[in-house]
Amino acid sequence: MGAAGGLHLRPARESDRRTLWRIHTRAVEALCVGVYAPHEVSTWVRLLRPEGYLRPDKPRTVLVAERGRRMVGFGQVDARAGELEALYVVPEEVGHGVGSTLLAALESVAWQAGVPLLGLDASLNAEPFYRHHGYVWLHAARRPLTAEVQLACVRMQKRRPATASRLEPATP
Ligand SMILES: CC(C)(COP(=O)(O)OP(=O)(O)OC[C@H]1O[C@@H](n2cnc3c(N)ncnc32)[C@H](O)[C@@H]1OP(=O)(O)O)[C@@H](O)C(=O)NCCC(=O)NCCS
Repeated sequence: MGAAGGLHLRPARESDRRTLWRIHTRAVEALCVGVYAPHEVSTWVRLLRPEGYLRPDKPRTVLVAERGRRMVGFGQVDARAGELEALYVVPEEVGHGVGSTLLAALESVAWQAGVPLLGLDASLNAEPFYRHHGYVWLHAARRPLTAEVQLACVRMQKRRPATASRLEPATP
């Protein structure tokens, strides 16, 4: 896959599970603290598990971003459902284009699958990032973690640009 500023994207593999989990945990702990209460962040992180990524019963497109040999972020899309399910960048790489590069590649997967809209539940800290990338605010939402803890988030979506390419079925 493409490279941008020394950044390389590739599909995630099973051996990445532990690193995906570590990136996810670190991003939430470092970047979501200001907008969520400490008990919300700790509950969120406690529920993450390495085996929760790349589940065989939930086929998804998961892309990882590497700078050199180091994994610096990942994102996940359910292209058939038109849902961006995850996008996380290691704290020390924030603001250097990793999230935007991953997002563009995941959007491209969704547009090529033919969905007209891509939706997501943005965490409150990430809402400006998605707005910057053309997503519009639909409504406030809640992501239930446990019976007691529900994370406030924002339901957003982006319409497939008229210029986006779509993979046509192969002609016989
Ligand atoms: C949100 C996140 C994925 C962004 O990734 P990133 O690599 O820092 O973002 P980039 O550097 O690619 O892009 C930042 C661009 O968005 C803009 N932006 C606006 N608000 C922003 C915000 N709150 N956070 C990050 N970027 C923001 C920047 O100005 C920048 O624009 P530019 O490229 O035109 O200068 C990353 O900060 C992250 O992992 N956050 C914690 C986890 C999280 O909340 N993930 C989303 C779950 S829904």
